[in-house]
Amino acid sequence: MAPVEARPLSEVGSTDSAAVPTGLAEADRALGGGLVPGSVTLLGGEPGIGKSTLILQLAAERVRSGGRVLLVSAEESAAQVRLRAGRLGAVHDDLWLVDGGSVDSVLDWLDDVRPDLLVVDSVQTVHVADEGGAPGSIGQVRAAAQRLVAEAKARSLATVLVGHLTKDGSLAGPKVLEHVVDTVVELTGERHHALRVLRVAKHRFGPTDEIGLFEMAADGLRSVGDPSRLFLADRAAGVAGSVVLPTLEGHRPLLVEVQALVVKATTPHPRRSPQGLDGRRLALLLAVLDRRVGIDLGALDVYATVVGGAAATEPAADLPLALAVVSGVTGRPLDGATVALGEVGLGGEMRQVVGTERRLREAARLGFCRAVVPAGTDDLGHGIELVRVATLAEAAASLGLLPSA
Ligand code: TYD
Ligand code: MG
Repeated sequence: MAPVEARPLSEVGSTDSAAVPTGLAEADRALGGGLVPGSVTLLGGEPGIGKSTLILQLAAERVRSGGRVLLVSAEESAAQVRLRAGRLGAVHDDLWLVDGGSVDSVLDWLDDVRPDLLVVDSVQTVHVADEGGAPGSIGQVRAAAQRLVAEAKARSLATVLVGHLTKDGSLAGPKVLEHVVDTVVELTGERHHALRVLRVAKHRFGPTDEIGLFEMAADGLRSVGDPSRLFLADRAAGVAGSVVLPTLEGHRPLLVEVQALVVKATTPHPRRSPQGLDGRRLALLLAVLDRRVGIDLGALDVYATVVGGAAATEPAADLPLALAVVSGVTGRPLDGATVALGEVGLGGEMRQVVGTERRLREAARLGFCRAVVPAGTDDLGHGIELVRVATLAEAAASLGLLPSA
């Protein structure tokens, strides 16, 4: 073996890591431009979330722009893939399909087809002949991935490996592969909602804070370029229990509606039912409302949700969630042009959150003209009137949510 030598970093040639756009706007946004030749991307997600749909669309876009794709689909039969590809407009002479097999047979096919994109669906179903264990076992999955990674580097071949992830993330596969691959993305969403979020968990070629947003439609995943508009589309302004939050998904500002419904409890143990929200934060906020604002929720059920299958588990969601509850209790609505954001402390005091400027810019873009924010928030001139509040009680009072004493 040649001796290893130290050298100045400036003398190290940088390999070509230019990303090739996928043709799917939101995938490119999440990936920081596209897929890098020679890089291996692991696409994880729960069964049924849309991984096979996404890779078929990626393949279709690639062949449409003159590329060649080898799709190894061990999860589904060739006929099933053909059927779905037909629906997605992905049937093309340069899209090659192998249904199943071993890693060795995949390598043979690479020699024959010479694709510039390889997709394996899923990495849990290809087996490695000289490795013990059943297909899908940790040893098998790791060995398969290692072989495919080596091949991707040697051939400068962009590769996407699909990996199933169960709810508890315990299945052999994605977790053990994270350090083997260059990029890890996860497709998430609520099964009964159309929204899908593509999140980058690890990225050797770009930032990890970007997300891609899609809507699952009859003809596959559609990029959602303006999610705030989508989330607020069906909002009925002027209804009690509804507050708009400019949230952040990675770097991306996103307006979502937080709703609370408060009703008389039917059991001695009142229900606290959060959806898309942090249940512990909800419990904490109800305690703060009791002690610091004087709103007793002890005999009331509280249902709280983020509309449209979105999630808002960050601290900035405290204020809108608490205000939605107050509004739900008193039956007094906020006006439709106001947003709220801020973390609530145990003393009922308001605390600053990150990214206020980006959030307010997005709110202004969508026509909101007032924002309830923690005292001390700088006025950055977004054309939004800032209502600065030091406490949760002050916020509720300034919005006219509390019954006049
Ligand atoms: P799929 O890509 O098979 O999920 P995964 O590979 O992650 O297990 O997609 C599953 C769901 O997506 C399926 O229940 C049907 C739905 N779907 C659509 O709504 N529209 C479409 O165009 C396609 C292809 C699938
Ligand atoms: Mg699948």
